[in-house]
Amino acid sequence: MNKKVTRIISLMTLFSCVTIAFTSCEKHDANSPGVEFMADMYRSPSLESYMAYTSLTDSAVMQANRLPVAGTIARGFMPYIYGNDTTGYGNAGRYLHNPLAKNEINLKQGEELYGKFCVHCHGATGAGDGLVGGKLPGAPPSYTGAALKNLPEGKIFHSITYGKGLMGAHASQLDKDERWKIVQYVQKLQNPNGAAPVAEEAPKATTEAK
Ligand code: HEC
Repeated sequence: MNKKVTRIISLMTLFSCVTIAFTSCEKHDANSPGVEFMADMYRSPSLESYMAYTSLTDSAVMQANRLPVAGTIARGFMPYIYGNDTTGYGNAGRYLHNPLAKNEINLKQGEELYGKFCVHCHGATGAGDGLVGGKLPGAPPSYTGAALKNLPEGKIFHSITYGKGLMGAHASQLDKDERWKIVQYVQKLQNPNGAAPVAEEAPKATTEAK
């Protein structure tokens, strides 16, 4: 036997011994993963949501979700600046306008949404005679009545957003575009013949707007 063959045989023997040593010394536990060569691949070091931070030293944030930096807003989010009070209501009526195009497509979608979210109280023509509305202690006023006929679009939007009296807030169920589409449809119900455009309140000379 030449030297080269002897070396190969002894290397193979050594390799076999090492392999046997690694595999056979484990306890015979069926659940044991055996020798792990790359433990990170099995046990991910990623953070799970809501777990306590351990890498941060600031004890105030260690147990809490991190809040956004003060004064920042999420990308694509436009805050609604009119508060849920009489000042906000008045300002919405004066300064808030439908940002969507008033066209047939938006009107049609507004009608569909009205049929899902409003008709049971306000009724198909907005007379306040929906199946639920008619049973309320104070039925919703008619859109064509004196109180609502000239209600400006900003106030309609505001009342859908926050709710009013027995009517609940709809901001969590309808996004802004959906609410504006409904507003367009409510305006049609205010003026079924489309005769006169909905009157806006005259702007006041004050600087009330936020
Ligand atoms: C639970 C029944 C109910 C539902 C649902 C409801 N409303 Fe009303 N709504 C009312 C009542 C009651 C009033 C009268 C509130 C008041 O003035 O006290 C009202 C008032 C209004 C007004 C007048 C607000 C104002 O500023 O005076 C508008 C406009 C209106 N609703 C639109 C809608 C639209 C649009 C929807 C669907 C997105 C809707 N409502 C869903 C019951 C309802």
